[in-house]
Amino acid sequence: MKGLFVTFEGIDGCGKTTQIELLSKDLREAGIPYVLIREPGGTVIGEKIRTILLDKANTGMDERTELLLYEAARAQIVKEKILPELEEGKVVICDRFFDSTVAYQGYARGLNLEDIDFLNNWSAAGIKPDITFLLDLDEKTAYERRHGRSDEEDRLEAEGLSFMKKVRDGYLARSKNEPRFKVIDATQTPEQIYQQIRETVWEVVGK
Ligand code: TMP
Repeated sequence: MKGLFVTFEGIDGCGKTTQIELLSKDLREAGIPYVLIREPGGTVIGEKIRTILLDKANTGMDERTELLLYEAARAQIVKEKILPELEEGKVVICDRFFDSTVAYQGYARGLNLEDIDFLNNWSAAGIKPDITFLLDLDEKTAYERRHGRSDEEDRLEAEGLSFMKKVRDGYLARSKNEPRFKVIDATQTPEQIYQQIRETVWEVVGK
């Protein structure tokens, strides 16, 4: 596979968006072809699934329904966007990918991790990110940051602190077994965080 597949992960409020913007700007200025996509969403079908998933009115959603909807959105974006863009040799930056499912539906919701790994691999057609940045932040700081923003909470964000703690712990547990993870202390300034991201990405694209 050509191209470079980079994913950003972390609990809601960890600062992913800022870092993704900084990386995009840098790649653009360096003339390196890239695309930016987000999960769930990123395709016409995927954005419709996203609306269902994040709608706070959907309080009755079964955990398995939730899992399968995330996987459905993923199957679509992998086929429609990620594989073709990588094939063209681009840097594909994905705001969340299947590690979110491990952390949110696996560790936080408590669904079986082996089932999730199977479904993740299946919906991703066997591909894996080359680099995964985990912006690690405690749930209280993340909550305060989120509440400094004007946008309303979505269905997952409204789950509360103990849920987000499980998500965080899940990410950290998963990151220990996978060398593609780069865990970054997200209490640092955006500039300090970005410097580490840039170094890691430029080790590959700068050659
Ligand atoms: P975000 O795009 O604002 O990060 O919102 C997506 C929400 O969906 C976020 O709360 C994390 C959650 N999520 C899961 O629970 N499982 C998944 O597989 C993915 C991709 C996201």
